[in-house]
Amino acid sequence: MNISEKIKSIREKINEHNYQYYVLDNPIISDGEYDKLFLELESLEKQNPEFVIPESPTQRIGAKPIESFGTVTHRITMMSLANAMDTNELKAFDKRLKKKLKTDDELEYVIEPKLDGLAVELIYENGIFVNGSTRGDGNIGEDITSNLKTIKAIPLKLRDDSTSSPRLLEVRGEVFIRKNDFQDLNTKRLQSNEQPFANPRNAAAGSLRQLDPKVTANRALSIYCYQSGLVDGIDFKTHLEFLEFLKSCGIPVNPEVKIVKGIDKAIDFHKKLEIKRNQFPYEIDGSVIKVNSLSIRNELGVRSRSPRWAIAGKFKAQQVTTIINDIFASVGRTGAVTPVARLEPVEVGGVTVTNATLHNQDEINRKDIRIGDTVIIERSGDVIPKVVKVIQEKRTDNTKAYHLPAYCPECDSELNRPENEVVYRCLNYSCPAKIKGNIKHFVSKNALDIDGLGEKLIDQLVNEQIIKTVDDLFRINKDQLANLERMGNKSADNIIESISKCKQTTFSRFIYGLGIRHVGEHTSKLLEKAFNSDLEVFIKCSFEDLESIEEVGPIVADSIIGFWNDESNKKIANECFSLGVKFKKNYETAIQTLLGKTFVFTGSLKIFTRAEAKKIVEKLGARASNSISKNTDYLVAGPGSGSKLGKAKQLGIKIINEGEFEKLIA
Ligand code: IVH
Repeated sequence: MNISEKIKSIREKINEHNYQYYVLDNPIISDGEYDKLFLELESLEKQNPEFVIPESPTQRIGAKPIESFGTVTHRITMMSLANAMDTNELKAFDKRLKKKLKTDDELEYVIEPKLDGLAVELIYENGIFVNGSTRGDGNIGEDITSNLKTIKAIPLKLRDDSTSSPRLLEVRGEVFIRKNDFQDLNTKRLQSNEQPFANPRNAAAGSLRQLDPKVTANRALSIYCYQSGLVDGIDFKTHLEFLEFLKSCGIPVNPEVKIVKGIDKAIDFHKKLEIKRNQFPYEIDGSVIKVNSLSIRNELGVRSRSPRWAIAGKFKAQQVTTIINDIFASVGRTGAVTPVARLEPVEVGGVTVTNATLHNQDEINRKDIRIGDTVIIERSGDVIPKVVKVIQEKRTDNTKAYHLPAYCPECDSELNRPENEVVYRCLNYSCPAKIKGNIKHFVSKNALDIDGLGEKLIDQLVNEQIIKTVDDLFRINKDQLANLERMGNKSADNIIESISKCKQTTFSRFIYGLGIRHVGEHTSKLLEKAFNSDLEVFIKCSFEDLESIEEVGPIVADSIIGFWNDESNKKIANECFSLGVKFKKNYETAIQTLLGKTFVFTGSLKIFTRAEAKKIVEKLGARASNSISKNTDYLVAGPGSGSKLGKAKQLGIKIINEGEFEKLIA
């Protein structure tokens, strides 16, 4: 065997062991033996770099950190699922399908655990992993190829011993973190003074959205795949057949998949999964019930966001009993003061819960919650745990009633409770809790998305009075950071760099980040479009200007006017600009403009080439098709249009020329 053959043979051995381990769940060698093989491959490749191929198992890590993620347009929308909250809704789902199919025959369903992680798409071309992305808004996701490559369960090259690999295989699945890996990760984070993740879902999502693949590589992520995107070169008749094919390719599929005839049996299995949910090594928040036959799926079709042929059967929120050791008041960024119960730590579905929200004083009074009470708490997925009720029978004489303080626990200002509202608020503009909350919101993922500025650091910066308002972030210098406790030179550099990078942002991210009451992400995007990313015009706008925007009502308009009437808010926004904040054209909003539309091009085009036109509409969230059908929204017709023009006229489809097309996409 020459050296090239030797390298190839070890590579194949490693891939085979990955398959045994991740797909068959049946490792046939020890971890030590596996590591030995890996080291041998690494050393041979090092001596013979000409034989290193990108799909080699040694090439999973190594990509350089990037500044931001690129985008990927999914060729087929990544849909979400409709929910069924109870068995009646599952039965209603089955009834709807039978009605639509005009049949009384029982349908064949496949039931799978609904994993609580992050949906991704993997693309294989001729058996090689070429791209991986997040779901994003369903049409456009983030390119996280380098991060996905670090997940050992994802084959970089498909097994092709039975069939040759299809030309194109797009496969969707869920990246998740197992409960024990989640606990290990949080323990490590606590040891290194980092904020632990609130739940496994956040841990998986946070790990995948790392700009440095080396960080992702250190997180124990898993994947199970469950759905196809575009596939070219192989056909399937049923979902089960597709899953079997994935396994034969080396792509992990959840082993807990069950096929049944009729909804009653599907419901039985759903209930079994619910009973067993805590025994699984990963979090599941329900089951997914899918029609098995792909031709019946086609007949049933899809709605705008979800297919008709599948439904998520949700599990009930998990409840456990514990004791309230204390109650404290927490001040949020809007000044709202929320009572929080400090609990005797308790495990709920694999996550240790230490706090639960009590919402407000009225809720405490209504439920008669006291310190020392034994209570039932509930946790469902991402939601903050809450206290459901007090077990009165277990109340002792030592319990103590609680009332929110009259003064802010952070700054001692008198709290205010407007008439008709249940929430007490701290109105002090310089309350450190509000400042911290504002900064945390401003740097959060959906606002300026500044990496490396964690909660602890923000607390330090505010406590040291380095930051008072968000514009101060852009004034921080390296010395100020390096002087902070537990801050190295390198970390200080990194933070300065990420703050500087995020100055290039978008109008909607910035406005959302300012934290104007009632202005969430969606409204910020509406405002971006309405004001064409012009902050000056937005600051000067009138109540009427705002109300004339579709979906903006008087409450939102009032809140915005009130915000800009405060001179200090204007000053903060303008200061950010003087310190270098700039808006780039927002691609995300542009996407919305043609979302879900289908274009056909015919005749000759002068301004764009066909390929360019196609690319543009795809970027704007639309699709380009080659043939006219009743689903076509626009026919862009240039000179020399033939039969397509006739057909479009017949079907009453909107026909535009190239000039009109140019305006449409502007
Ligand atoms: S199928 C068009 N199967 O649930 C149907 N989804 O709420 C595509 N999910 O975005 C989804 N486990 O992230 C499917 N076994 C499973 C799933 C699953 C988890 C997630 C997925 C999807 C979300 C919908």
